[in-house]
Amino acid sequence: MCDFLELMESVKLEIKSIKTLKELDTFRIKYLGKKGYISSKMIQLRNVSLKKRKEISSILNRFKTNLKSNINEYKQELEKQTFCKVLEKDSIDVSLVGRRNSIGTLHPVTRMIDDIENFFLKLGFGIVRGQEIDDDYHNFDALNISKNHPSRTDHDTFWFDSNRLLRTQTSNMQIRSMIKMKLPIKIIVPGKVYRNDYDSTHTPMFHQIEGLVIDKNINFSNLKWIIELFLNYFFYKNINIRFRPSYFPFTFLSSEVDILGDNNKWLEILGCGMVHPNVLNNVNIDSEIYSGYAFGLGVERIVMLRYGISDIRIFFENDLKFLKQFK
Ligand code: DAH
Repeated sequence: MCDFLELMESVKLEIKSIKTLKELDTFRIKYLGKKGYISSKMIQLRNVSLKKRKEISSILNRFKTNLKSNINEYKQELEKQTFCKVLEKDSIDVSLVGRRNSIGTLHPVTRMIDDIENFFLKLGFGIVRGQEIDDDYHNFDALNISKNHPSRTDHDTFWFDSNRLLRTQTSNMQIRSMIKMKLPIKIIVPGKVYRNDYDSTHTPMFHQIEGLVIDKNINFSNLKWIIELFLNYFFYKNINIRFRPSYFPFTFLSSEVDILGDNNKWLEILGCGMVHPNVLNNVNIDSEIYSGYAFGLGVERIVMLRYGISDIRIFFENDLKFLKQFK
């Protein structure tokens, strides 16, 4: 009897040291299994007097019932623990702040070109996207640029060989469009141009937008009107605009356009003029019948003016702090 009580105590301790359901099952078999402790004790009882047998078997049965319920209880406990562990492992903290995927935005230059394109589309201009690799003829000769013009040197132009180059201006597409398109022509040409320059106001690649209108009776006032309309749209206000006489080989008359900055200083913003008769003749357009105007502006430059950016290189440094401001 005393032995049994001790045994019960030690069994209770044993059960507490069990960590897994598998261990618990082994434990159960050890005591309650067919060949387990209780069965073997029962078998031994055959050789004991009836009175003693009754006494011991009732103790054994109590032990068995007790143990069964202990095992069941402990089993539930272990199952709960296992379940909790799984939950913990797979749990999602719904109160955590989500990680955002940052979505890219359009580059400010692209955005500006889209904006300018939309403006000119509404006025009936077509959009031409020209080639960036061109030749001597379309980038210089046909535009009435003399053979000894300084812009032709390696200092300014990226040459592939004696003939092919990275275009230095979108004006190359004036020539290509006039050769290819039917008159009248009314286009803008946004695109990349390349020059061998690098400082706070120059990068080796930048963007220009060229405008070209060829028709009968086109005159300087048409040019002036479109430029004024565009600049007032682009800078959101009625700005002071000045047409200053200038020189470009491919236009005559030529003009540079300045706007009056907030600091009361004039800022050069674009070049323009009436297409030079030599240029028209070069592409077999009769300059006695047709006339036209052209203009060219640097996209980065006007974005810099619009947003007060002082260094052009920031556009191409992939600095997210800068780029994210243009959402
Ligand atoms: N191609 C000139 C440049 O890159 C800009 C320009 C000036 C374009 C006057 C024109 C124009 O069409 O008429 O500096």
